[in-house]
Amino acid sequence: MRVLVTGAGGQFGAELAPRLAAHDAVLLDHETLDVTDPIAVEGVLESAGPDVIIHAAAWTDVDGCEVDPGRARATNVDGTRNVAAAAGAAFMIFISTDYVFDGTAGRAYTETDETNPVQVYGRTKLEAEQAARGETASLAIARTAWLYGARTATGAPAKNFVASILRGAARGPLDVVDDQVGSPTWTGDLADAVLALAERRMSGMFHVANAGAVSRYDFARAILEGAGRDPGVVRAVATKDATPRAAARPPYAPLDGVGWRSEGFDPLPEWRDALSRALPGILDAG
Ligand SMILES: NC(=O)c1ccc[n+]([C@@H]2O[C@H](COP(=O)([O-])OP(=O)(O)OC[C@H]3O[C@@H](n4cnc5c(N)ncnc54)[C@H](OP(=O)(O)O)[C@@H]3O)[C@@H](O)[C@H]2O)c1
Repeated sequence: MRVLVTGAGGQFGAELAPRLAAHDAVLLDHETLDVTDPIAVEGVLESAGPDVIIHAAAWTDVDGCEVDPGRARATNVDGTRNVAAAAGAAFMIFISTDYVFDGTAGRAYTETDETNPVQVYGRTKLEAEQAARGETASLAIARTAWLYGARTATGAPAKNFVASILRGAARGPLDVVDDQVGSPTWTGDLADAVLALAERRMSGMFHVANAGAVSRYDFARAILEGAGRDPGVVRAVATKDATPRAAARPPYAPLDGVGWRSEGFDPLPEWRDALSRALPGILDAG
C-alpha cells in the first residue's frame, strides 16, 4: 500500500512513520509540501500516486489560530481542500479534532452529535471536514483529542500538555484547570488506529481517541505520578481564575467512538494505560 502523509514532521507523523515501514510510505513535512499551495499539492499527489493519503498537516496552535484566523483558515481549511481536490482515486483520511464541539452537552460526544466549535481552530477544522467532503467521497474523518507524543519527526521533544506539565512541575507549583475534561490520546495509539483505517479504507466519520475521560487537573496528577514525581505540586484552578488564553476551550468534550466500534474496529486503550506506555519515551525525549 502506498501511503502519503502530509504534516509528517509533527508529533503524530513521527509515530506514524515507523508503523508504515512495511508499506510504501511518502512522508511529507511542511518544508517538502506546503498544503496551502494548490499547484504544489496537485503536482506532488499526482506524481506520488498514493493509494491512501493521511492528511495530518494543520496549524495546531489553538491560541495562535485565534490571533491569526487568516493563517488558520489558509492552513486548515484551504490546505485540506487542496489535498482533497487532488486526491484523485486515493482514499483520504483527514485528522480532525474534539474542538468541533462546544463541550456543553454534559456527556461524551459520538460521531453523529451536533458540532458547534467555540474557537477559530475548531471552526477551521470543521470547515475543513466540510471542504474535504465537498471534494471526495473516498474519505474518512478521524476526530481525535488532546494528542501527545514524545518527539517530532526531527527527534526534537514534542510540544504538548504532557511535556508542559513535566517541564512546569520541575519549576514549582502549577495551576491546572479542573473544569476542562477530555480524552487525552497518545499519538502511538492514534497511529495504530489510523493504519487500521487505511488498511480497510472505510469511509465515514470516526471518533478515534483513547477511552475514558479526565480533567486536565487529574491528567496532570497522573502524568506526575507516572513519572515518579510529586503530584502535590499541581493545584486545581477554575478556567475563569486561570491565566487567560486567547481561545476558549470546550469544558466537557470527551470523544466516544460509537461509530468506530460499530464498524468492528478495536476500541482504543484507556487513557491511563496509554499514558503509562507513552511516558518512558516522553521522559527520554526530555
Ligand atoms: N495536537 C492535538 O492536541 C490535536 C488534537 C486533535 C486533533 N489534532 C489534529 O491531529 C493532526 C496532527 O496533529 P499533531 O499533534 O501531530 O500536530 P503537529 O505536531 O503540530 O503537526 C502538524 C504538522 O503540520 C505541519 N504544517 C503546518 N502548516 C503546514 C502547511 N501549510 N503545509 C504542510 N504542513 C504544515 C506542521 O509543520 P510546522 O510545525 O513546521 O509548521 C507540523 O509538523 C492535526 O491535523 C491536528 O489538527 C491534534
